[in-house]
Amino acid sequence: MRDAKKLNIAESLALFGEATKLIPGGVLGARKPSDFIEGEYPIFLECGKGCRLTDVDGNEYIDFLCGYGPIILGYREEEVDEAVMKQIRDKGFCFTLTQRYQNHLAKKLSELVPSAEMSIFLKTGSDATTASIRIARAYTSRIKVMRCGYHGWHDWCVEMKGGIPEKFYEDVYEFRYNNLNQLEELMARHGDQTAAIIMTPFGHPNHQKMEEPQPGFLEGVREIATRYGAVLIFDEVRTNFRLSMGGAQKLYGVTPDLSVLGKSMANGYAISAVSGKTKVMMAAASKLFISSTFFPNSDGYVAALKTIEILDRENVIENIWEKGNRFLKKVRNTISKYPVGAELTGVAPMFYITFQKDAAETHRRRRDDFYTQLIRKGIFLHPHHHGYISYRHTDQDLDVTAQAIDEALAYVTEKNQK
Ligand SMILES: Cc1ncc(COP(=O)(O)O)c(C=O)c1O
Repeated sequence: MRDAKKLNIAESLALFGEATKLIPGGVLGARKPSDFIEGEYPIFLECGKGCRLTDVDGNEYIDFLCGYGPIILGYREEEVDEAVMKQIRDKGFCFTLTQRYQNHLAKKLSELVPSAEMSIFLKTGSDATTASIRIARAYTSRIKVMRCGYHGWHDWCVEMKGGIPEKFYEDVYEFRYNNLNQLEELMARHGDQTAAIIMTPFGHPNHQKMEEPQPGFLEGVREIATRYGAVLIFDEVRTNFRLSMGGAQKLYGVTPDLSVLGKSMANGYAISAVSGKTKVMMAAASKLFISSTFFPNSDGYVAALKTIEILDRENVIENIWEKGNRFLKKVRNTISKYPVGAELTGVAPMFYITFQKDAAETHRRRRDDFYTQLIRKGIFLHPHHHGYISYRHTDQDLDVTAQAIDEALAYVTEKNQK
């Protein structure tokens, strides 16, 4: 049984020790060590380039988290960074009034995203999902919300409820992806008071297997929203500019009333958007105050315009689907060789390897052994989060990764037999 050598992460651990005295918990949210495999994964990174990361101890990884989604091209993509630096150097990016780029970007989105007739721009995905709910509530003069998927850290939708009065989320109901009956039942009870149905159009619930829409599911949700007069919002924070240039809505041919975009739109620079039908979006102009000091800063807009230009010019999304499909085929074959309950879900741009749950909970040990072997071999995949493929992953990077997955599964299988 070939156990890969444990990484030296001494500097990461030292920095984390210091951080715990300065920052509650040391590292906030999804980046905290207990969300990975403690003692195996690095905690602090030094730098990155293309699809590679280097941690503070000098370990190098082929990375599949892509900054948790924003890196669609690669780390330190020179053309994008250069466009932003030129903007900062030659014109500036933080001003008293708005620069012209908001118009350019809104125009671009309306060419690409089926639902995008008008757009507003914010900084984070959470800003934008929250704004979309406020717009829907203002437009419909209703309060209730049906939701499906992760929509960020704000009061109405975050999973951990600490510090949030119940009244902030008591009108929000959850339904399961691909479960149209459940939504139908909820709407039969609350439909006439429902402002919005917000959902990820592709199923990527936290910590769980990924799901493509079953035939008729998205169409069914669209029909229910229309029938009850609720605003249908697709949360495409992860999927737009990943599954297609027009998001999952373009890929699957179902158009919502509003869309929320973020992450990969600007290859790492902070910008998000709510884009949608004019009649709904106009509620944002007449009834709402959506404003923040940094929303108009043009670095994100310039980065988004340049990123979209490159995605279009170099057929990046097609490239990711093609090489990703070749890679996933290999991984699927590998998985079928080893009887340890590993499962591959998702599609080429976003994929996830999980382990079938068993009553004795041994799947947890198999999962941890598998991901431990991978990180030790320099493959940065996450035990509790799906991976992404970026433009800068080469076929060779993907071959190395497929080989590491094979070896890691061989290790888990052998250990399982002991
Ligand atoms: C589907 C979805 N919506 C909303 C968000 C929140 O975005 P942010 O983390 O930029 O606030 C995320 C973040 O992972 C997401 O995946």
